[in-house]
Amino acid sequence: PGPCILVTGGAGFIGSHTSKALSRAGYTPVVYDNLSNGHVEAVKWGPLIIGDVRDANHLAEAMREYSVAGVIHFAGLIEVGRSVSRPDLFWDHNLNGVAAVVSAMRRSGTARLVFSSTAAVYGAPAEMSRLREADRLAPINPYGDSKLAGERLIAASCAAFDLEAVALRYFNAAGADPEGDLGEAHYPETHLIPLAIEATMGGAPLTVFGSDYPTPDGSCVRDYIHVADLARAHVLALQVGGLDAGFEAMNLGRGVGSSVREIIAAVTAACGRHPAVVEGGRRAGDPPMLVADPAAAMERLGWSPQVRDLATIVDTAVAWRRGCGFGPARQGPAAA
Ligand code: UFG
Repeated sequence: PGPCILVTGGAGFIGSHTSKALSRAGYTPVVYDNLSNGHVEAVKWGPLIIGDVRDANHLAEAMREYSVAGVIHFAGLIEVGRSVSRPDLFWDHNLNGVAAVVSAMRRSGTARLVFSSTAAVYGAPAEMSRLREADRLAPINPYGDSKLAGERLIAASCAAFDLEAVALRYFNAAGADPEGDLGEAHYPETHLIPLAIEATMGGAPLTVFGSDYPTPDGSCVRDYIHVADLARAHVLALQVGGLDAGFEAMNLGRGVGSSVREIIAAVTAACGRHPAVVEGGRRAGDPPMLVADPAAAMERLGWSPQVRDLATIVDTAVAWRRGCGFGPARQGPAAA
């Protein structure tokens, strides 16, 4: 087995796909996860350590035990709506998690970090143009605030001691492993594509959150990127050299916007039937449009999205759902 990489949150959606990509690239992913939202079935390419990401001692012990060559830090809370009602939890897990990871890396002499960041650091941009990394950082919810604070803590640590890091700002992660090993399984599910698929299969109708946005069809526009493309970017970010002041942030998106109504049309085409849809009001904290300019990741990582069209992204998500995800027993565990 190749060099070990510690993957916090490696049992989750993007973390598990990245573990598979690491394994393909010759690394051994060592997953560190508390399984509060992740799935033990998604840990298939290396060992699983069950632990809390805020526990720096436990993290340092894991880094030493496996002599890890680097860390990819995914573990954290991701649901924007819940961050508004429980900012205490988001700041605790997301910022204290980064502090513990960085401290454990310093103590164990681990130098390379890839951090799971988000387009939510840009808030609600005034301009309807594709976002660059140098654009204004102004989160509009505690989720985005806690992720931006994590980036800043990491950048400061890179300046202070022997640490090099890349923060990857994901736009909307979507789709599933094309080979059917992995897919998206959040409980409760709040993301548009899985909810729209469910609504074609007799599940709850999909509510369109807002029809009066200043966008071409009035619904919100997002940049949906295939999870396997995100996963590959993490492997490249572990390897990239010449980081500016030891820290760089990069957007990961296709650079193409799709509205909620365009997603509904793509799901209809993939499933061969319309999802049940109801019109609703705007969801608090939703910006009208978030689309990446991914030029920095393309230049610096030599990366480009291989899945270029929305139809393929949605098709892989539908195939995963038709295969019943991680299995019927996993369709509704106790809420964390
Ligand atoms: N939407 C609906 N109905 C739903 C769910 C979503 O209309 O039932 C709409 C939302 O309003 C939004 C779009 O579909 O316009 C996408 O919503 P998601 O909840 O799927 O994703 P978000 O864009 O809100 O959030 C995602 C990640 C976050 C991250 C954010 C910005 O889930 O973790 O992108 O990067 F912070």
